[in-house]
Amino acid sequence: MAISELPLRSKILKIKITMASNRTFTMIKPDATSRNYTGAILEQICKAGFRIVAMKQTKLSAEKAGEFYAVHSARPFYGELVEFMSSNYIVAAILEKENAVEDFRKLIGATNPANAEEGTIRKRFAQSIGENAVHGSDSDENAAIEGNFFFSGLEKY
Ligand code: GTP
Ligand code: MG
Repeated sequence: MAISELPLRSKILKIKITMASNRTFTMIKPDATSRNYTGAILEQICKAGFRIVAMKQTKLSAEKAGEFYAVHSARPFYGELVEFMSSNYIVAAILEKENAVEDFRKLIGATNPANAEEGTIRKRFAQSIGENAVHGSDSDENAAIEGNFFFSGLEKY
């Protein structure tokens, strides 16, 4: 349906979604930073056409890792996930590209690297379903929330 035919509320929502859809958030996870894959992963991300809006290397405390992945707190692997994500340093970044969230999920591949397509970041660099090299936001809304978890307005260029 053409945007001009939509009721006002839907029109505003559609415009908001369209405006927000050019950014996503990623982390290079502890398994990949430990194995010295940071440079190779960033090269693949940049070659795929993503611009780095913000980036930092840091280490999550167990508390902060738990907060970041709070959506999974009821899952059986939550404890393992929190322990893993706070086990070594990570690289957090906000990335920009048209259709960023969807295109980045395609670039990283399936959660379980065994099911990831050839050439994807997880296929190339991940170990297992738990230690899977990178995080990628699953929606525009979460991309904004996750980006704000790590970066202030002054740090986004
Ligand atoms: P993220 O981009 O990190 O959010 O991964 P995802 O969106 O592909 O997967 P999901 O959000 O469902 O799970 C979050 C993370 O939890 C995964 O990336 C894994 O690191 C971890 N995880 C998911 N399933 C399992 C599991 O069965 N076992 C273990 N140990 N970890 C898991
Ligand atoms: Mg996820």
